[in-house]
Amino acid sequence: MDSINCAKQKIRAVIAGSQVPEDPRHADNTLEWLLHLEPDAGDALQLAALAHDIDRAIEEVKVRREDFDDYDVFKATHARHGAELLRPILTACGVARDIVDDACRLVEVHEVGGEPQANLLKDADSISYFDVNLPLYFQREGWAETKRRSLWGYRRLSARARRIVEGISYREEAMRHLLQEVIHESV
Ligand SMILES: [Fe+2]
Repeated sequence: MDSINCAKQKIRAVIAGSQVPEDPRHADNTLEWLLHLEPDAGDALQLAALAHDIDRAIEEVKVRREDFDDYDVFKATHARHGAELLRPILTACGVARDIVDDACRLVEVHEVGGEPQANLLKDADSISYFDVNLPLYFQREGWAETKRRSLWGYRRLSARARRIVEGISYREEAMRHLLQEVIHESV
């Protein structure tokens, strides 16, 4: 097996252990949205898409929301820790050093973007939150927290990604209602 497929398989195996039920689907779905947005996405960007939330998968060491007052500081710490966890996985698979560095840097900035590749990852991640995470997040966290999280996610989308999210249709009326409120209140 080549080094990139070895890395993808190991990343998926780690994320399969997450106690957050939507995490494995979200990882692959983020990669799918990335390839929808940019069919020519390179290996580093693809690895970062799959691994961006790897921090959440390891219960013993994961960064915890309740330890932070500020949501953005929590997210930045989660992203940095994910990059630290990803590096030895990629290295063990023999991934080239420049791809390792790029993938880890992209995971580190996936919540904020800042350059074209990071912005693509941020869009793919945020679209995927609306595509696969939101219904499960809603069941677990309730209306108010899901709305806060969704507003935060919607506001960080590019115009192109917003149009994609606006086209998502939920089975449950409550989700459809929540998305409409988010779209209207985000302006
Ligand atoms: Fe994510």
